[in-house]
Amino acid sequence: MEMNENSRRSFLKQIGAASALALTAANAEALPSSAIPPQAQQASPAPGQSSQAATRPARMAWWHQAKFGMFIHWGLYSVIGQHEWAKEVEGIPIPQYELLAKQFNPKPNAAREWARLAKRAGQKYMVMTTKHHEGFCHWDTTLTDYCAPKQGPGRDLVREFVDAARAEGLRVGFYYSLMDWHHPDGAICKTDEAARRRFVDYTHGLIRELMTNYGKIDVLWYDVSWPLTAAGWESERMNQMVFELQPDIIVNNRNGLEGDFATPEQRIQAADAGRAWETCMTLNDSWGFNRFDDAWKTPKTIVGNLATCARGGGNYLLNIGPEPDGSIPKESVTVLEAVGRWLETNGKAIYETERSSLEASVNAYYTRRGNTFYIHQQFWPGHTPAAEATGFFKPEAVIAIGGLKPKALAARLLKTGQSIPFTQDEFTFRLTELPLEAPDQPATVIEVECDGEPIIDHEAMRALWPRYRVGVS
Ligand code: GLC
Repeated sequence: MEMNENSRRSFLKQIGAASALALTAANAEALPSSAIPPQAQQASPAPGQSSQAATRPARMAWWHQAKFGMFIHWGLYSVIGQHEWAKEVEGIPIPQYELLAKQFNPKPNAAREWARLAKRAGQKYMVMTTKHHEGFCHWDTTLTDYCAPKQGPGRDLVREFVDAARAEGLRVGFYYSLMDWHHPDGAICKTDEAARRRFVDYTHGLIRELMTNYGKIDVLWYDVSWPLTAAGWESERMNQMVFELQPDIIVNNRNGLEGDFATPEQRIQAADAGRAWETCMTLNDSWGFNRFDDAWKTPKTIVGNLATCARGGGNYLLNIGPEPDGSIPKESVTVLEAVGRWLETNGKAIYETERSSLEASVNAYYTRRGNTFYIHQQFWPGHTPAAEATGFFKPEAVIAIGGLKPKALAARLLKTGQSIPFTQDEFTFRLTELPLEAPDQPATVIEVECDGEPIIDHEAMRALWPRYRVGVS
């Protein structure tokens, strides 16, 4: 059956909704490990708690600082160029799908371009699909011929990726899909114990290769655990092997266990305080290359999302879906370069921040570190002639925040350090003498130092506000 654009999109949205549900269920079992006081985190694990919890703060320190990573979805589906679920969405039989393996001929060292772009974009780590649901392995494995060195590419693409990321000083992450649409036991393993045994051995074997042959790996990013449970995958044993081979690695929660961090997908939702989390998101609506998907996000949306993640103490893993030859779609390059330019002068308002309670307003996002907060003004104020006619509103741009609790001590434009005059009373904090044009794009960041932790409390202000009589005179 032919699928038109709309039905394809709604189908994919449903798939997304289903995996989000599965995720919520996995997260519900998660132990909020960082809710545990630091002393207790150093101690030996309590019964039932994963043995990795004790080393978690040390293993995750770099990741918390990194804040921003690049996700890369690349595989045989890129050859079709219609989303990484094409095999299922379009019902492509395995023998026909396998033919794509010979057509997959990436240019040499494509990963160098990705890594250089990630670096320019201000991303600190990269996570590449080593095997997606389609089952094709990008590395030199002894366990299947369905792998890059023995098919079209004729070489180890994981090796190229690892070398490229390291050459740019970026941390290295491997995405690995447990679900496998290609392996003969990939579905029947749910009901046939002999098949499950073979498939779990195969899976653990592949992961062992990835954890053994490429030096130090920083992140293992499991995906979709269908059709088995954590017990069926032997996920405890899987993670144990991973940590034996890579003692400093961090792992996510998609093999049915808590892992080190939660993985909200295509939405920004902070986990409970103390639990690490990372939002993964596409730059258009597809993970894998989709030549027809033109729903590109703007740099403004991306820097707003980065601020929202930082505000919640989380990371942002932003995806590119390279073309079959490894080239990055030009729209992705444009957006990521704009974000990188902005981070060059505004990075402090993202990388150096911590979780905060400051909720975004209509026109701005807020991030915080200690007693300092950052106004990420997305929509710059300007002339409002009718309001100015009242005499109260001045013919200048004013950024005002009602309900700011502590006393502001200093305000400056983060990009230049130029100080900004302000007034403050019990109701409002007003930055004045601002230029009429936004000083920076896609958002202007103003750093405000306070004499206590910044809190914006509209409700308290509402109660204190002097009110006047209501009536008709
Ligand atoms: C979902 C999709 C998959 C994508 C992943 C990224 O699980 O099935 O295609 O790789 O999300 O988080």
